[in-house]
Amino acid sequence: MNRTKFICLVGGSIVTTVATGYLLSDKSNLLRKDIKLIDSHNVILKPDETEILHLASLASSTHNAQPWFVQYLEPYNWIIGNDKSKWLPEADPTQRETILSIGAFIQNLEYAASSFGYICHWTLLAKTNQDEQVVAVKLNKIESKNPFDISKIKERRTVRSNFLKDELKIEDRQYLINSETEFIHYLPAISKEGQYINEQTIVANRIQTYREPAQQELADWIRFSTKDAEKYRDGLTTASMEIEGLSGWIVRNFYNKDSVMNKDFREVGLDKVKQQVSESAGWILITSKDNSVATLLETGRRMERLLLKVREKNIAIHPMTQILEESSTRQMLNQVIGISENIQFILRVGYLKNYPQPVSLRRPVDWFIHS
Ligand SMILES: Cc1cc2nc3c(=O)[nH]c(=O)nc-3n(C[C@H](O)[C@H](O)[C@H](O)COP(=O)(O)O)c2cc1C
Repeated sequence: MNRTKFICLVGGSIVTTVATGYLLSDKSNLLRKDIKLIDSHNVILKPDETEILHLASLASSTHNAQPWFVQYLEPYNWIIGNDKSKWLPEADPTQRETILSIGAFIQNLEYAASSFGYICHWTLLAKTNQDEQVVAVKLNKIESKNPFDISKIKERRTVRSNFLKDELKIEDRQYLINSETEFIHYLPAISKEGQYINEQTIVANRIQTYREPAQQELADWIRFSTKDAEKYRDGLTTASMEIEGLSGWIVRNFYNKDSVMNKDFREVGLDKVKQQVSESAGWILITSKDNSVATLLETGRRMERLLLKVREKNIAIHPMTQILEESSTRQMLNQVIGISENIQFILRVGYLKNYPQPVSLRRPVDWFIHS
């Protein structure tokens, strides 16, 4: 064999090995549209019950932990439960965000039920954020006058990048806040208060990312590979973290929980936060009068109602709750921005040029229904 022939042969086998390696690798981000969301083989559930519960599960939740379950009592009569195994003791030691997330689930459930011609009757069961049974619900058939448009539930998503800096137009502010001015507050990015939240969001993220148990908890909720994403159908995927292209491929194939604990990973995350806070219209805060379970559920519902309104105005909302999760940043917040009520949500807000499709995954209804 002459030299040229040998080089061609070696070169060819390297190309073949690389190409085969790539073909066998985890090639693309797993998206919501790639999975069958309604997988219910549950014989007890009526088809519209499955639909309603699936739509309820498309609600927002911290780390996409989906901390709910449904206890099936009889047709159209359920208890909504708090799934302890999905708590986030480091980011949310009092389960405040868990109850807010369950509130969001309840709002979606009520809207979805209305679109199928049902009215919901709710009975509060929980006295604390830790009680397993949260609310009971009965769905009664009614002549529906004002069914909710469920495409809004299907298309809602959290967007984290590429916000425009334009201020919110007055008519859009009114549309988002109108009858809720007591609880929903808008702080433009250029205002003193908006600037303070920008700075403190970076500070709080730095504290949290270097708080080892909190970073470990985050690592536990990242689904690096498509295999894990398919297995768990929850948590944060490369797609939902908006890690695309070559970076996404590298993370899916070479990263694991240990990578999240590396300094590089933490610093890249902080750079992303700095970038995010530098591009937005401002902040929306949602407040409440107290911290009772009923109030937190209502506040979670309020947030979900707001999230369901923004897409049609090309507005994105990105919850950035780290200031509330870290005690040192939480303590000063009310005083500096001059709000005396309990601040339950800090939401970054801004217009988008292109609105992406939802990508975060959900567990099939069968996985969260207990009979
Ligand atoms: C109480 C609460 C707190 C949240 N905090 C954050 C946050 O700090 N950062 C973030 O990127 N997303 C946050 N989110 C958004 C969730 O991560 C998001 O809803 C979840 O991953 C599902 O994705 P989806 O909204 O696109 O369906 C929060 C959501 C809730 C309900």
